[in-house]
Amino acid sequence: MERELCLTKDGSYTFYVPALHECYHSINGAVEEALHVYIRAGLLAILPLHTSLHILEMGFGTGLNLLLTEAFSPDDTSVFYTAIEAYPLQEQEIQKLNYDKIISDIHVENIMKIHHLPWDETFYPLRHNFALKKVKVLFENYELEKDLFDLVYFDAFAPDVQNELWTDEIFTSLYASMKNGGVLCTYSAKGILRRRLQACGFKVERLQGACGKREMLRAVKVE
Ligand SMILES: C[S@@+](CC[C@H](N)C(=O)[O-])C[C@H]1O[C@@H](n2cnc3c(N)ncnc32)[C@H](O)[C@@H]1O
Repeated sequence: MERELCLTKDGSYTFYVPALHECYHSINGAVEEALHVYIRAGLLAILPLHTSLHILEMGFGTGLNLLLTEAFSPDDTSVFYTAIEAYPLQEQEIQKLNYDKIISDIHVENIMKIHHLPWDETFYPLRHNFALKKVKVLFENYELEKDLFDLVYFDAFAPDVQNELWTDEIFTSLYASMKNGGVLCTYSAKGILRRRLQACGFKVERLQGACGKREMLRAVKVE
């Protein structure tokens, strides 16, 4: 996948994919968007209810959501993080990531560590109780375990350019893979997406969006 490095308004980098006319993050702030959509609306909202968390990320990309999750979860919370990615960054792209310059709790050696880990195995690269399994696969082909995840970061490219990932089938299998009360966050707030999530059984909230966007979605599994 051809990508171009792109500086966003909060000083952090993202990538632009010319073939899709899409960026990995908001150009108004990659770190700010990730903090808003996945950390504040997702992780911090459910942390008080958990001492141990299973997190699934659709689209590992730069690893920013993982790095922020480690930075914002208390040391005594056990985290099991599964990250799915089909098109990993190349070494010269990894070297450009500057999230350590924006968030003091992100360390450059951790950025390198998480990207250099082998695929499809579990490691503890950041702390003893933070497991990471990166899986290199097309998400559509990944078999999700049932009743496992407390939190899902759904960070695919936009529905307009990647409609194969925003389907009833995908959301039905995500619903089945989550625990009752589990939360799925995504930056997209399209009406069709909201109705699709509702049809799969999720209770869906529209929250204020990141970086000037009007809305984002948070969906909760309620049985
Ligand atoms: C919008 S970007 C988000 C990246 C990431 N969350 C981050 O913070 O950098 C979407 C990510 O999904 C990956 N991706 C696209 N299609 C995929 C697919 N079918 N299966 C798995 N990963 C995919 C892309 O390579 C990219 O890393």
